[in-house]
Amino acid sequence: MTIEAEDLACLKAIALLGGCRGPVYVSSQSLAAALGASPQTAARRLKSLESALYVTRSVRPAGQYVAITRAGEEVLHREYSDYCRLFGRASAGFVLTGSVVSGVGEGRYYMALPPYREQFARVLGEDPFPGTLNVRLDGASVPVRKRLDALDWVPIHGFVAEDRTFGDARALPCQVDGYRCAIVVPGRTHYPEDIIELIAAVPLRERLGLADMDRVTVEVPERDEVDHD
Ligand code: CDP
Repeated sequence: MTIEAEDLACLKAIALLGGCRGPVYVSSQSLAAALGASPQTAARRLKSLESALYVTRSVRPAGQYVAITRAGEEVLHREYSDYCRLFGRASAGFVLTGSVVSGVGEGRYYMALPPYREQFARVLGEDPFPGTLNVRLDGASVPVRKRLDALDWVPIHGFVAEDRTFGDARALPCQVDGYRCAIVVPGRTHYPEDIIELIAAVPLRERLGLADMDRVTVEVPERDEVDHD
């Protein structure tokens, strides 16, 4: 999934016009001016982005409208992540994107068990909201998720209660829209590789106005800077 430098510059120019938020009016002239290229070259770049499915185009009586697709947005996110690393903003060491999905309501049960709750409270620095927010990762974020396994996770210890054994887990501090969160991975289950579960002190759906299918960006610092003791 490589993109030519000129196409990337064109994608960025469309994003700066507001193309990540929906269709924006783009004339070949204005795009050409932004790229320092001829209108023909700008039109060719746009076609190339369209055939790579990074943008969609629609021609209306008022002119041409262009919107950046989810795949296009992922390309820009990867660039953003690279620049953050270049300039030492560790809080964006890894960026995962995906959309909110519903689970089977198990999260709130496990999160309410005191031994788990207390350990998660140490990770978050506050009492956790009883539940986990499930996020289905975009295809491009699945390999990023795998790279997270090499980071410094906080071990969550299992315990025995009510004649049942509750397994080990691990947690990795992260942020969603500035809210301190953690990715939680149960030790015993084989989880689908494209799903992550997030915990936070706050009800994220409510705070961020999230419904199923809504987009979420998860930022994981490259070095574990979050003090979890
Ligand atoms: O039903 P499901 O397995 O998705 O969820 P749960 O783990 O039982 O959590 C209850 C509800 O709270 C779900 O709708 C979660 O998405 C949501 N939640 C949230 O908004 N913020 C959190 N920090 C954790 C869960």
